[in-house]
Amino acid sequence: MTEKDFLPKHTEALPESGKVAWKAPSNIALVKYWGKKENQIPANPSISFTLDACATRTTLSFQKKETTSKFSFDLYLDGKPKADFKPKIEVFFDRIAEYVPFVKEYHFVIETSNSFPHSSGIASSASGMSALALCLMDLERQMQPNMDPSFFMRKASFLARLGSGSACRSLEGDLVVWGKHESIEGSSNLFGLKYPFKVHDNFKHYHDTILLVDKGEKQVSSTVGHNLMHGHPFAKERFKQAYQNLTSLQAILKSGDLAEFVKVVESEALTLHAMMMSSNPYFILMKPNTLEIINKIWSFRKETQMPVCFTLDAGANVHVLYPESIKESVIQFVQDELVAHCDNGHYICDRIGTGAKKLIIPKK
Ligand code: DP6
Repeated sequence: MTEKDFLPKHTEALPESGKVAWKAPSNIALVKYWGKKENQIPANPSISFTLDACATRTTLSFQKKETTSKFSFDLYLDGKPKADFKPKIEVFFDRIAEYVPFVKEYHFVIETSNSFPHSSGIASSASGMSALALCLMDLERQMQPNMDPSFFMRKASFLARLGSGSACRSLEGDLVVWGKHESIEGSSNLFGLKYPFKVHDNFKHYHDTILLVDKGEKQVSSTVGHNLMHGHPFAKERFKQAYQNLTSLQAILKSGDLAEFVKVVESEALTLHAMMMSSNPYFILMKPNTLEIINKIWSFRKETQMPVCFTLDAGANVHVLYPESIKESVIQFVQDELVAHCDNGHYICDRIGTGAKKLIIPKK
């Protein structure tokens, strides 16, 4: 598929007004997206687990307006106006207007809330952009009632990507690939693809306990971070490595080899941070407590031989990943040894989820 496949088709009349709502999950990358080209095209393919508990709920109310020259919308987070999110949404609308021209025909009220606390250091852009893209596609579907369900998801992912790259992996469960990879048929730089192969039972119901080490604002925005890969001395090798790691991971997901899974996932996390440490300007986004936690996970794994591992996003929080079979022991370990390194002892117990859901709006 190409961009052209997502251009508007002949539609029935636009509805005058209405309201739709969607809940979309967050995701955690196993092979990381770090570095992009123009138009939100990733420099390498990535793969993520879709999460369950960490999610955004968005209600989109729409009302036809007179003039169509500008975008018009109000934005609320947890019921309060959120002016500082508006520029990001403005950019998003601007990027998607070619594909969903009706966005200029309406005044929108976007009401959004996250299941995780705003100041948790967990980025809401993936789940937030995904939920909004799904709401917009729901509106488009009202004008094209015969829309194929797989096209609905694909275009929603395509739009979400234009809002935030990793958001295109936040629609379906339980594993999603984004970016062209020769051995994954149907994979694309334009949208996320539900992982098309059979996955070993070891990876069913995987857990992600998110340790909130630093709940402050992000030190480096992801847009700035991705840009630092332009002209980065190790960029070319890194993109090649990510591609190869996705190849390795395919064999691992099939065989259920947890020891190899741990190696790939931890190496990806540390390489992501190594890229930030070696860019110009350079950043250290880990905190002392991030390292304490990593070292304790390594000791625990050595002592118990249990396949628990960590991954990191572009921040200090640690995602502890482990299979269902060892969940009691790991939760105990988290409580006994890791919680002490979390900001105010805060952590979130999450697990692999099944993807976004349409929400029913109660009739008044
Ligand atoms: C480190 O998707 O937030 O989480 O496309 O600029 O919005 P933009 O970037 P974003 O980058 C996420 C980077 C990451 C790794 C990943 O999720 O693959």
